[in-house]
Formats: sequence, structure tokens, C-alpha cells
Amino acid sequence: MDNERMNDEQHTNIGATLTFDLSRPGRVGCSLPECDVPEAEIPPAELLRDDLRLPELSQPDVVRYFLALSRLNYSVDTGFYPLGSCTMKHNPKVHEDLARRPGFADIHPLQPPETVQGALAVMHNLQRCLAEITGMDAATLAPAAGAQGELTGILIIKAYLADAGQSHRRKILVPDSAHGTNPATAAMAGFEVVTVASDKDGDTDMQALQVALDDDVAAMMLTLPNTLGIFDRDILTIAEMLHAKGALLYGDGANLNAIVGRARFGDLGFDVVHLNLHKTFSTPHGGGGPGAGPVCVKAPLATYLPTPVIEQTDGGYRTLRPPHSIGKLQAFHGNFGVLLRAYAYLRSLGADGFREVSANAVLNANYVRERLRGAYQLPYGRCAMHEVIASASKQRAKGVRAWDVAKRLIDYGFHPPTVYFPLIVEEAMLIEPTETESKEALDAFCEALLAIAREVEETPEVVKSAPHDTPVGRLDEATAARRPVLRWQPRND
Ligand SMILES: Cc1ncc(COP(=O)(O)O)c(C=O)c1O
Repeated sequence: MDNERMNDEQHTNIGATLTFDLSRPGRVGCSLPECDVPEAEIPPAELLRDDLRLPELSQPDVVRYFLALSRLNYSVDTGFYPLGSCTMKHNPKVHEDLARRPGFADIHPLQPPETVQGALAVMHNLQRCLAEITGMDAATLAPAAGAQGELTGILIIKAYLADAGQSHRRKILVPDSAHGTNPATAAMAGFEVVTVASDKDGDTDMQALQVALDDDVAAMMLTLPNTLGIFDRDILTIAEMLHAKGALLYGDGANLNAIVGRARFGDLGFDVVHLNLHKTFSTPHGGGGPGAGPVCVKAPLATYLPTPVIEQTDGGYRTLRPPHSIGKLQAFHGNFGVLLRAYAYLRSLGADGFREVSANAVLNANYVRERLRGAYQLPYGRCAMHEVIASASKQRAKGVRAWDVAKRLIDYGFHPPTVYFPLIVEEAMLIEPTETESKEALDAFCEALLAIAREVEETPEVVKSAPHDTPVGRLDEATAARRPVLRWQPRND
């Protein structure tokens, strides 16, 4: 135990220290033999900066420093990561192996198509699989994130309506529970955003929809299941209402893992849907790394897809620009390495495997929900889908808020859930356990949340001052935002 504590202290100190602080004059990481060839100045002396104070460290110093730093990192590979809506989930390691195979890793998008038929086949098959899974007719893999997928989908709708002489449709309806990227997308594409309220059960308020749905509406962007973790029971009626008014239904399919293999967006009346490959197809996410937000559409919209789409001909696979394409989204074909990992996941799970995904995603969320019952408020009295919304509003009586609970969870060794989103739930804590977690992992997380609820009753100060075991405690977030310290300064001590 003492050893453990000592290691933790070292580790913590190293986390708060920079290599500059560890530097000792003259210490080196490797020593070179005497030079036995004529010396040449590279780069020229006038380009050298004598005042550049780089840290001077031995090799063990550097290795230990970075290893200790990496141990401070929290990731899906180190622990439970129940971030609702943003979803961090297990990335099978075999995918990394596949993505590194020279036939995939060493090719270039400008190579002649006949030399990259395998890669084009992967993309073509993935397009087809995603269209099939979503019940749509065509797909693009080009968008580099969910948000870019949304922009793609809305630009497709805009172009389609313009060609149909419907450019007067300037409004996009967005439920008040939506992910922020939905209204941002609509506004960015030049539409007026009209918010539609949710009812007390978390479904779309049908009266509010009726009022908002006029002849100027281009589309409604609806997330299914929504970001409250709720499947809108009126979805078929909503689709009918929109179509009867000449408007389209856009699906934010980021939460597909809740319904994959069981319900299809196309069958429910959606015209366009984007998917977040990291949320359902296990691709890596986070740290601003590459993403993928494929978009699937019904046949009348297929000719508007961005370029390129991959087509199969008698002579093999080739890239194609659809006749009314909205154009290019980014360089080349999309994030191929991410697409490849998603395809590998698809092939290894198959249809039965994906039905298990949705079964486990929903089961795990509801297990957490039931374990938290009584300790935290559960604002919606019905089963959750893949994520569960809880609230720390009960804890407010003791002066403890959702973000205090979140920070205290860090002391218990867990990544906090998403807090204060969706905006319509007071003191929201949006928990997505994901489908790959074991009962033991869920229990450990729930035990921590239950222990925190007891602490709120008995010793609320402990919760309010958390985290206690991190290299830095509570940051003054306003100062951090307004007066950030972005450069190393020598210590005075
Ligand atoms: C429901 C929903 N829509 C859209 C997005 C935006 O996706 P991205 O972060 O890939 O841009 C997310 C994020 O995960 C999401 O949860």
C-alpha cells in the first residue's frame, strides 16, 4: 500500500512537472563518438538560436517522464468511459493490425484505380452495408465527422429542394433535446432554426410540431433515439406529417447502436441519415483524431451525394461524381483508415452480432438506470435505450451539483459522464455505458455513484471540493479561459 501511494505521488508530481523542470545543465540522452569526418555547419550558424533553452535530460529521465505522463491519461483502454452522446467505446485491436497492412497503409489516393481495387472494394462494400443497415438506397463515406455528415445531409436537402423549385423553404425544425451540432449545421447551411419542444415523456411534443410545421419548412432534423436516450414513439406520424407538407425528415443516426439490426431509418420514413462510425462501428475517437460520418439517402437524393462515391462496374471499382453532386467535402475519399476499421467490425460481427450490440447497449443502460433509482432523480419514467439520463437535482438541496458529482467520480477512478446535456434536463448526467462493458464494470461504476450520493448526505464538502487525487484540483475555469498560461516559465522556488 505504501509503495502504491509512493508511486502515485511520484506519478502525480511528474504529471504536474515539465521536462524543463527536470532539466540539469549538461545532462544528455545519448553521447556521440568523436567526429572523424570534416565538420559541416548544418544549419548555417545564423539560423541557430543560442537562447533556445531546451531541457537537458538523460534517457531514463525522458522515458520515465513520458511513461508517467501517459499513465495520467484516461482512455477506453484504461477504464470505464460512460460519456453520454459522445460515446467512447472499445476499439478492437485486430482492426489496428488490419489498418497497418501494407496493401491498405501504403497506398495513395492519387494512384490509378486499377492499382487500388482492394481499397475501393472495401469502400464500395461499406457503402452498401451502411445503406442496407439504415434502409436507404445510397451512401457517401466522405464526411470526416458526424457534424460534417450533418452538413452534407442538409446541403443535399437544400440542393434537392432548389431543383424542385422549393427554395422558399428556409426553416429547419430541431427538437430542443438535439445535439448542438444539429442547429449549428442548419444555421451554417443558411437555414432558420426553429426549435420544437419535447413533451414530458421526452418525445417530440406533437402540438408544438403541428404549430411549427408550415409551408416554409425544408426539413426536420430528428435524432433517434434522441439524446435523452428515448425512442420517439411518434416517429411514423412525424414522418407522415413532414412529407404531407412537402418537407423532408433528416435523421441524426449517431445513436444507431441502440437500434442497429432491429429498426431502419429508411423504413421509419427518414429521407437522409448520418452515422457516427465511432459510436456504432467501434472506430477510435477522441483527441481530435480523424473521424467518419457517412451519410445514407433515399433514391431521389442519391444524385446529390458529394464526390466521390465508389461504383462497381464490369471492369472493377471506380470513383464517380454523381450528376447533381453538392461537390467535394475534403481531399480525396474520406478517412480511409477509419472506414477500414468500421468495415472490419461489420464483417466480424455480421447481422447477428449487430443485433447483440443493440441488445447489450440497451440492457446495460437500463441496468445502470435501475441501480441508480432512488439515489438520483430519473427524469423520464420509461425505459432507456442506449444511454440513460439521470439528474443530480436531488443533490442540490445539499449544495451539490452535477459537476461536483462528476468531479468526485474522478477520485473513484472513473471518467465522468456527460453533464449539463441535454440542456432541457436540470443537473443532467447523461450516462452511456456502451454495449461492450461487463456487469462487473457497470456494478463498480454504479457503486461509486451510490457512494457519492451517500457522501452528499453525510459529508457534502468532500464532493464539493473534489477531485482530491489528481495532479491539479479544481481549476478556476474563468481564469483558465481568460488568462491561460500557455508557455513554460522558470519556477521561482
Ligand atoms: C447525437 C449526436 N449528433 C451529432 C454528433 C456529432 O458528431 P461528431 O462529434 O463526430 O462531429 C454527436 C457526437 O457524438 C452526437 O452524439
